[in-house]
Amino acid sequence: MTLDPNDMDTRDLYGYLSTAVAPRPIAFASTVDSEGRVNLSPFSYFNVFSTRPPILVFSPILRGRDGSAKDTLENLRAVPEVTISVVNYAMVEQTSLASTEYPTGTNEFAKAGFTEVAGEVVRPPRVQESPVSFECKVDDIIALGESGGAGNLVIARVVRIHIDEQVLDAEGKLDTRKLDLVARMGGNDYCRATDDNLFEIPKPLRNLGMGVDSLPAHIRNSDVLTGNNLGRLGNLEALPDEALLQRAEASQEVRDARAQGAIALHRLAKRYLERGEAELALAVLLQRVGSEPA
Ligand SMILES: Cc1cc2nc3c(=O)[nH]c(=O)nc-3n(C[C@H](O)[C@H](O)[C@H](O)COP(=O)(O)O)c2cc1C
Repeated sequence: MTLDPNDMDTRDLYGYLSTAVAPRPIAFASTVDSEGRVNLSPFSYFNVFSTRPPILVFSPILRGRDGSAKDTLENLRAVPEVTISVVNYAMVEQTSLASTEYPTGTNEFAKAGFTEVAGEVVRPPRVQESPVSFECKVDDIIALGESGGAGNLVIARVVRIHIDEQVLDAEGKLDTRKLDLVARMGGNDYCRATDDNLFEIPKPLRNLGMGVDSLPAHIRNSDVLTGNNLGRLGNLEALPDEALLQRAEASQEVRDARAQGAIALHRLAKRYLERGEAELALAVLLQRVGSEPA
């Protein structure tokens, strides 16, 4: 299916965009109006866009029903400061409650049952229950359109970072597993970064992976290996040396697989890949089967 956004109504377009571009982190944005009244709202059109200067960007969109601006946007135009707190699993129901369109001037900290902590350098308070909060000055607000559904990019420069020490590891770094962050998917779905759905991929930046195109054709075209398997193999810097090829050849497991043929060797290599032994897996894949050249 191929779609042209010009032929779609805003609701459908939102559905496709927000379901496909996910999971999205959630900014819990606290702002104040010119009279100092506090507002708190979640935004999942949000991310970090620069390290130095440290820039967070989020987007309050104009209301679909009448194109009016949300309180957060009005407040930022009056007082260009925001405190962004991240959202973890323990806070997610109250965060959703805080997204209710209460009348202007309503303090959603009170409505949702959160605790205000005064900022050090900006006026909007932070959410005490959040594990990490960023006090920010707003450098710019870029309007992306004028009618309902149009985003407004809030370019927020971080001036203070507050961290609950309970989410630090022994070295004082943030610990993803302790943070237990949640993210927004399409519709009413959220997801949670728990231990059983986190996984690691070695950074390609450390080495110059040879690339999938450098692997022999019978490996690239394997019916057994997946795209992820090929990605991990292509991340190796070079084909295995003679010593590793011989080590693989000497193993009884490899001999048994060789005797059964190429598919058995590919299956064995896949198991090694799943155990994180990519070099050995490639050495297995390069074993000759019978009299066939590898
Ligand atoms: C998890 C979550 C993420 C949301 N993300 C956005 C968003 O990125 N942009 C937006 O305009 N509204 C978003 N909303 C809806 C706003 O939070 C909602 O319209 C809120 O009432 C705006 O409050 P305000 O008028 O006080 O600024 C989100 C709601 C939830 C629950």
